[in-house]
Order: sequence, then structure tokens, then C-alpha cells
Amino acid sequence: MNNKLRGAKISATASYLPERIMTNYDLEKIVDTSDEWIFERTGIKERRIVSENEATSDIGAKAALKLFKEYNIDPKSIDLIICATFSPDQLFPATACLIQNKIGCNNAGAYDIEGACSGFVSALSAASAYIKSREFNRVLVIAAECNSRIMDWSDRNTCVIFGDGAAAILVEPCDYGEGILGSYLRADGSGGELLEMPAGGSKLPASEKTVNEGQHYLKMKGKELFKVAVKNMSQVVNELINKYNKKIEDIDWLIPHQANIRIMDAVAKRLKFPKEKTFSNIMKYGNTSAATIAICFDEMNRQGLLKHGDLIVTTAFGGGLTWGGNLIVWN
Ligand code: ACO
Repeated sequence: MNNKLRGAKISATASYLPERIMTNYDLEKIVDTSDEWIFERTGIKERRIVSENEATSDIGAKAALKLFKEYNIDPKSIDLIICATFSPDQLFPATACLIQNKIGCNNAGAYDIEGACSGFVSALSAASAYIKSREFNRVLVIAAECNSRIMDWSDRNTCVIFGDGAAAILVEPCDYGEGILGSYLRADGSGGELLEMPAGGSKLPASEKTVNEGQHYLKMKGKELFKVAVKNMSQVVNELINKYNKKIEDIDWLIPHQANIRIMDAVAKRLKFPKEKTFSNIMKYGNTSAATIAICFDEMNRQGLLKHGDLIVTTAFGGGLTWGGNLIVWN
């Protein structure tokens, strides 16, 4: 048995954004809002919306198939699929299993992680641990959301913020000390009601009443979440750099969960981190929940922004409440 320590790295990325673009001007026709309000308060100009025949597993599968094609990866070589989503096709089977069937990963296990907007950083942490422990050699992390399907399109507090999208990230072995150095994950269930879908589970099964009351839509207390998000997303970065003996000046890229541009700016300011090294694409896609950071990775990778040896920190905050991040040396 080979006991040599090994690392885990992101070895391939791909994403899929639905074709349909919904602009702030389109939203002005649906709810009492304006392009000016949305852009000023969130940094969002437009978001993508899935077509009628697309569900979360479809867009997740499209991202994965793109990755296989572009990197010439045999689907049968994947050991495990982890799908991060809080807008699954169904409560069960797991969306990861539905994706597995669509992409021909006949030798893979599959399960979902439901960590709301922190789902991807948790999934990446798990994938990294499996690779480092030699349990698996190829873990495919998919982050996919069809947020448009769980929105109350009459609620201007939420429908202007969220969007649909998916990304696939392959995690494979690398030299020890490179790749995903480590992760930080925390939760506080006492704040669960700040972001929730009240009905549809064992507590409040679907009924005529729950449907009439709109209890199957995402409910968010945005103002309360805002402050905690800034504090906790900053804490994630500090915890990670302290644990790995790094300084804030060592970080080449901060990839925050794309919740709201004001949250991202406030986190960078609190950390005294340059805004120009804080990646953001919220303007184009809105908040795609678990998928935001994964989509950022793919965009940055495609744009050639990530250089060998770059130190990258991700930080996310979401329903649960959950928060966490990963510290990565790009290779
Ligand atoms: N258009 C126009 N006006 C609006 C809209 C809208 N779309 N939405 C709210 N308003 C109004 C409100 O009614 C309010 O009016 P009032 O003063 O007359 O009552 C006013 O605008 C201000 O509303 P606030 O809620 O105070 O606006 P705020 O500046 O806090 O922005 C937002 C709201 C964008 C939701 C912000 O609070 C936010 O981003 N919060 C954090 C969200 C978050 O991080 N969620 C967790 C991560 S996501 C996840 O886990 C899936």
C-alpha cells in the first residue's frame, strides 16, 4: 500500500449557463422594482433562467459533459459525483444520481450536499478529503441550481436576486502541499429561518394549504442575513490564512460567494483586501447559490486569470446558516 502523503487539486472546470437572459428591465414588468434599485443594492444587471424542459440535473449534466469533452475525460473513470444544490430536481432521488445516469459515470457513487450557498465549498472540502486519503482518485463536484423554480415571482425581495446556472469541477491527486490546502466549515442552525423553504418536507408536507400560502417558495430575511454574511465570510478568510500561516498579502485571488456586490465589497474592505483581486460576475448571473463560486472558477480558468502557484481563497455564506471556504494553491 502506498502511504505517501498526497494533495488534491482542481484539475478541470466547465460551466453551463442557460441561454435565456432575464434583465432588470424584464423584472420591472413583473414586480414593482427598477434597474437602478437592483443594480445599486445588489450589483446585478441580468441573470439566466432555465428553459421549460431543463431541471437542475439537466444543467449539471451539461456542465459535466462539457468538462468531459474539453478535457477528454472518460466518464467511467469518475469514482464519485457530489452535487451541491438546494434546488434539486426532487427531494429524492438525489440530483447527483440523476446526473450520474445522464453522463454515463457507470463506476461512480453519487450523493447531494444541501448547504445552500455554502454547498460548493463543503463539496470541494469533501472531495479533497477523499482524494488526500486515497479513498478515491477522481471526484466530480457539480454545483447546480434552478433557483427560478423555487422563486416567488411576486416577491421583489427575492426574485430580483437569484439566477440559474451550473458548473462542474474535477478534483484529482497532486503533490502534497499543492492544490486544496484545506477548508473551514461552520454552521449555526439557530438562524435557519432567515433563509428557508418552509413546506415540502416532513415538517410541513405539501397540501392545498401550503401551496395556497406559497410555502414552497424561498423565503429570505435579507437585511438580517446581510450583516452576518459580511462578518462570517470575513472570518472564514482569517481562519484559513491563520491556520495555514499565510498573510492577507499572500492571497492572489479572493473568490467570494456572489450574494450581493455590497457584501463582497464589505468583506474585502473588512479584510483590507484589494477589490481588484476580488473576483465577481454577479452582474451577469445574479446569485446562483451553491453554483456561484464554481462558475467563478470556470470563468477565471477560461480567462487565464489563474496562474500556477496563485494562492486562492474562497468564502461562502448561506442558508442553514452555513459558512465556509477553501484555501487553494493553483496548479
Ligand atoms: N425593488 C425596489 N425596492 C425594493 C426591492 C426591489 N426589488 N426589494 C426591496 N425593496 C424596498 C424595500 O421594500 C424597502 O422599502 P421600505 O424602506 O419602504 O421598506 C427598501 O427597498 C429597502 O429594503 P431592504 O430590504 O432594507 O434593502 P437592502 O438594502 O437590505 O437590500 C437585499 C436587500 C438585496 C436582499 C440585501 O439585504 C441582501 O443582499 N441581503 C443578503 C442576502 C444573502 O446574503 N443571502 C444569503 C445568501 S443566499 C443563499 O444562501 C441561498
